[in-house]
Amino acid sequence: MKAVFCEKLGSPEALVLREVVSPVPGPGEVKVALRARGVSFVDVLMIAGQYQVKRELPFIPGGEAAGVVLETGPGVERVKPGDRVLVPGGFAEETVVAAQRVTSLPDSVSFETAAAFRSSYCTAYYALQRGRLLAGEVLLVHGAAGGVGLAAVDMGKLLGATVIATASTAEKLAVCQQLGADHVINYTQGFRDQAEAIGFTIGGLARLDPAREKRNFAILMGWLAAGRITPYVSHRLPLARAAEALQLIRERKVIGKAVLV
Ligand SMILES: NC(=O)c1ccc[n+]([C@@H]2O[C@H](COP(=O)([O-])OP(=O)(O)OC[C@H]3O[C@@H](n4cnc5c(N)ncnc54)[C@H](OP(=O)(O)O)[C@@H]3O)[C@@H](O)[C@H]2O)c1
Repeated sequence: MKAVFCEKLGSPEALVLREVVSPVPGPGEVKVALRARGVSFVDVLMIAGQYQVKRELPFIPGGEAAGVVLETGPGVERVKPGDRVLVPGGFAEETVVAAQRVTSLPDSVSFETAAAFRSSYCTAYYALQRGRLLAGEVLLVHGAAGGVGLAAVDMGKLLGATVIATASTAEKLAVCQQLGADHVINYTQGFRDQAEAIGFTIGGLARLDPAREKRNFAILMGWLAAGRITPYVSHRLPLARAAEALQLIRERKVIGKAVLV
C-alpha cells in the first residue's frame, strides 16, 4: 500500500510517497482501507516539528480519516469487514488501529465529510462550552473561515447565537455566510481585537476529562448524522498530492478543510 512519509522535519515539499507492506491487524485491532483523510494546520506544524506533541521520524502525517473495515484481528466484535468507519488514520491507503478508537459512520455521512469533521468540530464545540455560549447571545469568531473557525460558526448558529465572523477575503466571508453567519467583517479593513482566547488541546481534554470528551463526541456524531452540522471542504486532492494540500493551508487558501481522497 502507498503512504506519505515525513522523514525529515520541515516544509511539505519534503514529504515522500512510498510503497510499504500492507499492515496486519493484531489482537484487538482493525485494518481500514482509507477513502478520505482530513488535512489540518496541525499537520503543517507537526511535519515542521513545531507542534506541542513531537513524533518520532519517520512518521505518516495526518490525524483523522474515514474508510471501510478490511479485516479485524482476534477478539474484535464491535466492527466487521465492510463497515464504514471514522478512525485516527493518516495520509495512507490503509491503517491499523485499536478497535476502541474506531467510530461507526452513519450512511448519511460521506467519507469526505467525516474526514473533515472530528478535530475541528470537537475543538470548536469545547471552546463554545468553555465560553458558556447561550442561545440569544452574540458569538464573535475570528479566523472564521478556517477549519475550527467555520465549525464554531456552524455550531454557534445551531446553539441559537447571533454569529459575527471575521476573515481576510470576500470569498471566505461568503462561505461563513453560507454556514449561517449573521454578520461578516473583513478584518483586513480594520478591526479592533476585542475577543479573548483560552488555550487547550483536544488531546488534553481526552486526558483531563475523558467522560466529557466522549459525551461531546457522541453529541457531535448525532448532529452530523442528522445533517444539523455541515463540515465545509474547499479542496479535494489525491493522496499523492498531500504536500500540495498542506501548502494550500500554509498559504491560507483553504476554506474550512482540505481532504485527501
Ligand atoms: N487545541 C486543539 O485541540 C486544536 C485543534 C485543532 C486546531 N487547533 C489550533 O487552532 C488554530 C486553527 O486551526 P485550523 O485547523 O482552524 O487552521 P486553518 O484551517 O488553517 O485556519 C486558520 C485561519 O486563521 C486565519 N489566519 C490568521 N492569521 C493567520 C496566519 N498568520 N497564518 C495562517 N492563518 C491565519 C486564516 O484566515 P484568514 O485568511 O481569514 O485570516 C485561516 O482561515 C491552529 O493554531 C491550530 O493549531 C487547536
